[in-house]
Amino acid sequence: MKHIEVRAEHEYKVHIDAHFEGVLHEVSQSHNKVFVVAPQYIVDNYQLEKFLHPLENASLFVVPDGEHQKDISILEKIWQSMGEAGITRSDALVAIGGGATTDLGGFASATWLRGISWYAIPTTLAAMVDASVGGKTGINSQSGKNLIGSFHSPLGVYVDLRFLKTLSDRDFAAGLAEVIKVGFIRDSLILDLLQTHTSIASAREIAEELIFRSVFVKADVVSQDFQESKLREILNYGHTFGHAVEKYGHYEVRHGEAVSIGLVFAAELSGRLLGLKSDVITLHRQLLEQFNLPTSTNLSLPPLMELMRSDKKARGNNLRFIGLNSIGSPHWLENVSAGDIEAVYERIAQ
Ligand SMILES: NC(=O)c1ccc[n+]([C@@H]2O[C@H](COP(=O)([O-])OP(=O)(O)OC[C@H]3O[C@@H](n4cnc5c(N)ncnc54)[C@H](O)[C@@H]3O)[C@@H](O)[C@H]2O)c1
Ligand SMILES: [Zn+2]
Repeated sequence: MKHIEVRAEHEYKVHIDAHFEGVLHEVSQSHNKVFVVAPQYIVDNYQLEKFLHPLENASLFVVPDGEHQKDISILEKIWQSMGEAGITRSDALVAIGGGATTDLGGFASATWLRGISWYAIPTTLAAMVDASVGGKTGINSQSGKNLIGSFHSPLGVYVDLRFLKTLSDRDFAAGLAEVIKVGFIRDSLILDLLQTHTSIASAREIAEELIFRSVFVKADVVSQDFQESKLREILNYGHTFGHAVEKYGHYEVRHGEAVSIGLVFAAELSGRLLGLKSDVITLHRQLLEQFNLPTSTNLSLPPLMELMRSDKKARGNNLRFIGLNSIGSPHWLENVSAGDIEAVYERIAQ
């Protein structure tokens, strides 16, 4: 098993190639009570109840699948259930699921009794390479995605690669969008690997290496700038436009699919404002399209602009983006004009 250390409000490790049954057992031994949060799909397909049953101090809370679980009404039910289970400061929460579940479970643990310990067991590629690492937890609200949240790092992240076997190609590809993002901002070897593993099936064969490399970069960046004062923003490459697409589509598109369109937008913007070479822009489209990820949009620009302005990364009325000078060299773009955005939008509009 490989480990990667993260230095945040406390140090913790991301363990790659763990077995979730063993992790549940260990966590239940080191806490008085354990409160497990998991989506229906994982409960049904991974016999979670069977593994939890012998652990007498564990209780299970089943959440709906998908983005809709990141809602205040679900969180309220979790709080109520934690109260009924008598969860105290010395107890722990375990979130087993995709990024929506680790965001929600992490936020429940951040808010219960002003913060209890938690562990993340990510079950999608997106959650393994991104959502479960870095300590950002939260839910969505009427005003926007992830606007309510907290920095609250887990005590450990346990990646069990066996979960990927049941992950659909669509969800695997959505996770690859974040991996490709990491390749462009920091680790060009990822881009080399994906130029020789050009199908989803062949990328699945190198999943462990892709996860290790992506988590390594995220852990390094987060360890230097946990609260996102500046450096950590590079992880938002592709996300300003991506979040707007995701919100406009009422979360019907996967986060990674929206980020895929956002990455091409950011690359084209970098071509216009930073002179990013056209072959690098083409490489964005090539790598994303080979995994059937979308690289253009038919959504109209004015509402997307509105959503970008309300994004939590916006400062005042100014639109800010992370751009690229070249592969591995991100650049902060402040005050991007509406004219530049319109011109770049034309290049990705269907
Ligand atoms: N906190 C962060 O830093 C951070 C970073 C990136 C993304 N996120 C969040 O993560 C979420 C996206 O993550 P996601 O794509 O994992 O979403 P998700 O949790 O909604 O999972 C996608 C779908 O896959 C199913 N699923 C989960 N594990 C499975 C498995 N092993 N086999 C088959 N199906 C499985 C889920 O039930 C769900 O229907 C978004 O809410 C995003 O905002 C957070
Ligand atoms: Zn993301």
